[in-house]
Amino acid sequence: MPALHSTVVDPQQPGRLITLEGPEGAGKTVLGQRLATAIVATGRSVVLTREPGGTRLGERLRALLLEDGGRVDPRADALLFNAARAQLVHEILGPALAAGQVVVCARFGDSTLAYQGYGEGLPLADLRALASVSTGGLVPDRTILLDLDPEIGLRRKSQGEQTRFEASFNLEFHRRVRAGFLELAAAEPERFRVVDASRGVDAVFADVLASSLEVL
Ligand code: TMP
Repeated sequence: MPALHSTVVDPQQPGRLITLEGPEGAGKTVLGQRLATAIVATGRSVVLTREPGGTRLGERLRALLLEDGGRVDPRADALLFNAARAQLVHEILGPALAAGQVVVCARFGDSTLAYQGYGEGLPLADLRALASVSTGGLVPDRTILLDLDPEIGLRRKSQGEQTRFEASFNLEFHRRVRAGFLELAAAEPERFRVVDASRGVDAVFADVLASSLEVL
């Protein structure tokens, strides 16, 4: 996903971090792009990025993490996703937020809790400790959970688009991930908004935009 940088930086405005979470095929890429464009139209400066990725190191780690090369220990996954996250916070998120920009990020720490925690069974407390190291305690101002039955999401992706997570994990894994995301959202209703992503993209986007404008 290309970063979308607008030119105006207004240090008078508080920086805001909006994250998009959810299963595969929920539309994070398209919705992130539309959201960034809509926020730029309100006069705010926006950075659009993604996890894993968004930096040179992060994109290299992304290629390693998503290639379908067989079974990876979930602890190795958790550490590598957090390594990419640490670099993203250091290089992109921290400076952008300090400059008063709005950052729209496809996936963030909740993905590790959902996939490596609820999906793979690693202890949530360990993953939270790891995330606090990699993010320095940075918590999104708003997290939009694009909720979708994993069967629908996986069907939306063509064979060529499949990553290791779609190819190597069964439907049960993806169901645990979905349930995990919903549990995380229920535990933090102030930060999360849950959006039904099974609908057409325009209806989903309307909810994504409204949920984002609440915190700007
Ligand atoms: P995506 O960018 O197409 O959503 O692919 C990223 C994949 O990586 C997706 O299957 C979810 C997975 N993932 C984790 O397992 N843990 C994480 O912390 C993150 C950020 C992603």
